[in-house]
Amino acid sequence: MSLSASGVSIRFGGLVALNKVAVSVSSGEIVGLVGPNGAGKTTLFNCLTGVAQPQEGKVQLEGQDISHLRLEHRVRLGIGRTFQTPRLDLAGSVADAVMLGFYPRLRQSILSACLPFSGARRTEDELSARARALIAEFRLATDPDAPAGELSLGHLRLLEVARALASEPRYLLLDEPAAGIDDVDRDLLAQAIRNAAARGLGVLLVEHNVGFVAEMSHRMVALVGGEVVAEGKPADVVGDPQVVAAYLGVQRVAA
Ligand SMILES: Nc1ncnc2c1ncn2[C@@H]1O[C@H](COP(=O)(O)OP(=O)(O)OP(=O)(O)O)[C@@H](O)[C@H]1O
Ligand SMILES: [Mg+2]
Repeated sequence: MSLSASGVSIRFGGLVALNKVAVSVSSGEIVGLVGPNGAGKTTLFNCLTGVAQPQEGKVQLEGQDISHLRLEHRVRLGIGRTFQTPRLDLAGSVADAVMLGFYPRLRQSILSACLPFSGARRTEDELSARARALIAEFRLATDPDAPAGELSLGHLRLLEVARALASEPRYLLLDEPAAGIDDVDRDLLAQAIRNAAARGLGVLLVEHNVGFVAEMSHRMVALVGGEVVAEGKPADVVGDPQVVAAYLGVQRVAA
């Protein structure tokens, strides 16, 4: 049971953003994906979710080639993601924003609810209760009916993750979910990710805070310049000379 990319290459004009990249995540596994700015992490997420179409290679879900499937279809099959910049409708309430996450699954349950004797019928009340349970798990708001626009950046990031979990994905791709959030929120996020993985969710986690990723992950993959340069146990990847050099290079440029 896994989601995988193999031999994936994508070019934007003359720029090779990914070069024959292979990455996989199994059910219940947390895989940390690290690499400096421009390494190709978000582009890899785009290829896995169907936002971008690689020129080479394939994406497989539970052994089936899903490379030709569109984003919507992949979401319905259980691939969820969050975005580097939170994309939420801030006009509605916190509960509304989480409930939007049910939509991909809802279409299926509406269909099955039309069938006679269906056991899959789900009422709006049930969904609302589940949204409120997620809001409580993430301690997102004392009042779930408060406008989402009133949340801090940290809580907006947590809200994105809660909404993504609401769609009950089998695999979840998190693009810098902890960027700009405080330690308390980061601990809540870490616990929610671990709980979801313990229930069987496969997680691909992109973060610049390498220490946080190493702590969270069962396995790590390092991308540099669109290529996988190291992969394996977190301690080995963090100590890998090519990974260290890539991060030192970034610091030197930034200094
Ligand atoms: N749609 C696009 N058109 C042109 N170039 C792109 C496009 N998407 C990504 N790139 C380029 O591909 C490379 C990889 O970008 P990507 O956003 O995947 O990196 P990243 O590892 O997510 O970086 P960051 O840590 O800054 O988020 C970069 O050089 C980027 O400018
Ligand atoms: Mg990125």
